Amino acid sequence: MSANAVEVRNVSKRFGEVHALNEVSLTIKQGDFFGLLGPNGAGKTTLMRVLCGLLAPDQGDVRILDSSLERWQIPFAVGVVPQDIALYDMLSARKNLELFGKLRGLTGKKLETRIDFVLDLIGLSDRAKSRVKGFSGGMKRRLNLGVALLAEPRVLLLDEPTVGVDPQSRASIFELLESLHGQGVTILYTTHYMEEAERLCRTIAILDHGKILGVGSLEELITMVKTPRFVRLILRSDSEKFPALAGVASKQSGLRVDYVPTSQDGLAEILTQLADFHGAQRVEVVSPNLEMLFLELTGRELRDA
Ligand SMILES: Nc1ncnc2c1ncn2[C@@H]1O[C@H](COP(=O)(O)OP(=O)(O)O)[C@@H](O)[C@H]1O
Ligand SMILES: [Mg+2]
Repeated sequence: MSANAVEVRNVSKRFGEVHALNEVSLTIKQGDFFGLLGPNGAGKTTLMRVLCGLLAPDQGDVRILDSSLERWQIPFAVGVVPQDIALYDMLSARKNLELFGKLRGLTGKKLETRIDFVLDLIGLSDRAKSRVKGFSGGMKRRLNLGVALLAEPRVLLLDEPTVGVDPQSRASIFELLESLHGQGVTILYTTHYMEEAERLCRTIAILDHGKILGVGSLEELITMVKTPRFVRLILRSDSEKFPALAGVASKQSGLRVDYVPTSQDGLAEILTQLADFHGAQRVEVVSPNLEMLFLELTGRELRDA
């Protein structure tokens, strides 16, 4: 058995003129918490659909847990959480789990035990008998995730699982995923939220226009950032002017002014000069982050200088 849970080799998929996936290759190690980060239309869902055998690529191949994928055959050890919530509104939470459990081949006592276990995990035990119709967005998302957990997956594929949820549900989804990761489940987590990828993922791949633009741990990716550390001044709402500093490029956007140093000791120099300015609400040093890399790689940074 190889140490890789998922292997994607040179996968391409076109829809007419659109290259939804353009020679994508990536490897996800067993036990990894892997983030696939990309804006809307990047190709994330297309890759997910290829991974669960719902869509045949034009070229390339995919292996999950050492077996190549046949169309329409999701291995039992793989749980899939689709981007669009797939639940029956008129059925209760429990009935939904029963139905999807049976589709995955679970029956009898085993199914009942799993359903109770999953309801508890997703915090819906006391709403088990309620129809999904009346559920909040967060409850539906949690149940959508619960469906994927019925079969005790060793690999979990999640497509934007926190879209439209309240902060409480988001936090509980994060905790659940962290705990599954702690138990050795391999997770592929698709998102367009930088902060989610930064917070959760041990490995992050940046995808845009169907191409992988960078892969690595957060620390590795951050070393690729070209923007240096800079100073951000947040003006008080009653201050009209910000100080122009000699030899430093500044960029204003609303109450925010960014001073980008041109030399190593420039940072300290800027901070010293700003110390005398009284119109500041606060002054902070901004370090390279995932968003900067994302904007650099996808080429959409504002170049006002
Ligand atoms: N079934 C389809 N038919 C035509 N175009 C599609 C189809 N599915 C996806 N696309 C296009 O492929 C690109 C990638 O889409 P998608 O994988 O859904 O992106 P993401 O999930 O990252 O938002 C988009 O331009 C989208 O419009
Ligand atoms: Mg999508």
